[in-house]
Amino acid sequence: MTDVASQGRRSGDERQTLTNRQGHPVYDNQNQRTVGARGPATLENYHFLEKISHFDRERIPERVVHARGATAFGYFEAYGKWGDEPISRYTRAGLFQEAGKRTDVALRFSTVIGGRDSAETVRDPRGFAVKFYTEEGNWDLVGNNLAVFFIRDAIKFPDVIHSLKPDPVTFRQDPNRIFDFMSQTPECMHMLVNLFSPRGIPSDYRHMQGFGVNTYKWVNDKGETVLVKYTWMPKQGVRSMTEEDAAKIQAHDLGHATKDLREAIDRGDYPEWELFVQMMSDDEHPELDFDPLDDTKTWPEQDFPPKPVGRLVLNRNVVDNFTENEQISFGTGVLVDGLDFSDDKMLVGRTFSYSDTQRYRVGPNYLQLPVNQAKNAQVRTNQRDGQMAYSQDNGGRNPHVNYEPSITGGLCEAQYPTHDEQGPEIVGRVTRKRIPRTNDYKQAGQRFRLMEQWERDDLVKNFVNQLSQCDRPIQERMVWHFLLVEDELGLRVGEGLGISPEDVAHLEPLQSQTLTDEDRDRLGKLG
Ligand code: HEM
Repeated sequence: MTDVASQGRRSGDERQTLTNRQGHPVYDNQNQRTVGARGPATLENYHFLEKISHFDRERIPERVVHARGATAFGYFEAYGKWGDEPISRYTRAGLFQEAGKRTDVALRFSTVIGGRDSAETVRDPRGFAVKFYTEEGNWDLVGNNLAVFFIRDAIKFPDVIHSLKPDPVTFRQDPNRIFDFMSQTPECMHMLVNLFSPRGIPSDYRHMQGFGVNTYKWVNDKGETVLVKYTWMPKQGVRSMTEEDAAKIQAHDLGHATKDLREAIDRGDYPEWELFVQMMSDDEHPELDFDPLDDTKTWPEQDFPPKPVGRLVLNRNVVDNFTENEQISFGTGVLVDGLDFSDDKMLVGRTFSYSDTQRYRVGPNYLQLPVNQAKNAQVRTNQRDGQMAYSQDNGGRNPHVNYEPSITGGLCEAQYPTHDEQGPEIVGRVTRKRIPRTNDYKQAGQRFRLMEQWERDDLVKNFVNQLSQCDRPIQERMVWHFLLVEDELGLRVGEGLGISPEDVAHLEPLQSQTLTDEDRDRLGKLG
């Protein structure tokens, strides 16, 4: 081959020659084309204009949440069983069926609130997003490390995130704004008790759990469904940091968790997680004091024992951060046959939001990018064109028939699994209502009681530290909530702020909440 590009090489230099994106060798990458050595510059300066205008477009919008993250690749290996039973009894999803079956995965860890270059030592939930490149198409399990979430209805998501993001005027994260919102949103107590405990600062990404958080369904061959929740347990163990530990790291490193992950994989110390599934029958479960579709709740392990269904190993780092970590796109709508949604009101909102933001953030053809492609399945659609459509066949192998149905060729629908018609019958009035069993405090209290003494001390200290920067009415309402969560928590945070139970006894329950009998008993004791 006559290497056009090699024309630019100086003799004896074996390196490859710089070209522009049209394949033209670049003879001068130091000087623009000008009239005379001192200018003016000419407009027909193709290499210069291409170089600068591409640079101008180097950044895509960062994720509106979870902007800072780290991705690694590996495999998921199925156990083929759910406890002692074949897994096919509960799901027909291909990736789970056979013991030892491996599926390629990508896992992106992240923080939530900070920008792309922010510190990884912050108190913040961590994202735990897994993409399974299965033979039946991709499956994304987009979770976090704290098992629950702040809110249970997707309509509140922009509000909770705005309160946690920097103030739009001062551009500083402000406890007064955060707790202003949280104090009016009692469902967030369980999340707050987790977030302000040491678990709120995982020591790095390898030593944290992952949770699907929302409730999903499994579907078997007969079309029978069960409700499921997912948990990832790290083989490396779980480790957290206090604010003091975190501050020491942050003083010299903003990206310690990304570095830790990368270095572990580079030295062959591949991190591993085991996937556990909890299951309950697919109904409303009136016997429970919480709603199985409420993502502010966990399912008690003694009643719904988590069973291991497989393990995940990460053994490859990204080759390029932009194409594999920045452009990777996860979503809760990305499910394979045998896995399904539940009616969880967060899940439905999330499912709209992810692909919506990715069409804007990455572009309408984001699913053509290698990291997002369903690379182990066949993809054949009638979708064509759009910005940056790049595959040679423009997304389809039937150049003329890009519609369906057709008697002349083209794609046709898969045979519909008729057993899916056995889904639940739902009768109800169209309405806007919160779920009946909110029970906002009980699990938060149970979580507090499960903590070791040092964790409780750290939790109280962190709350007092944050709330002491808030207005008095916000402090009082938070102490009121904490007294409903657990006496010790309310009394100790109150003591730190100079607020006694009598000081808050006059507060009425919020209009946005439903109290349980137990909550009312506790309230009765305040005055
Ligand atoms: C990322 C929306 C709740 C976990 C995102 C992104 C959006 C979003 C717009 C950015 C996606 C991108 O640019 O690619 C929402 C909405 C929620 C919600 C509307 C509630 C209605 C949750 C919950 C969890 C979660 C409950 C945890 C279980 C994540 C993770 C990412 C993410 C892990 C980062 C994915 C990645 O690494 O690319 N979310 N989210 N989100 N969200 Fe949510």
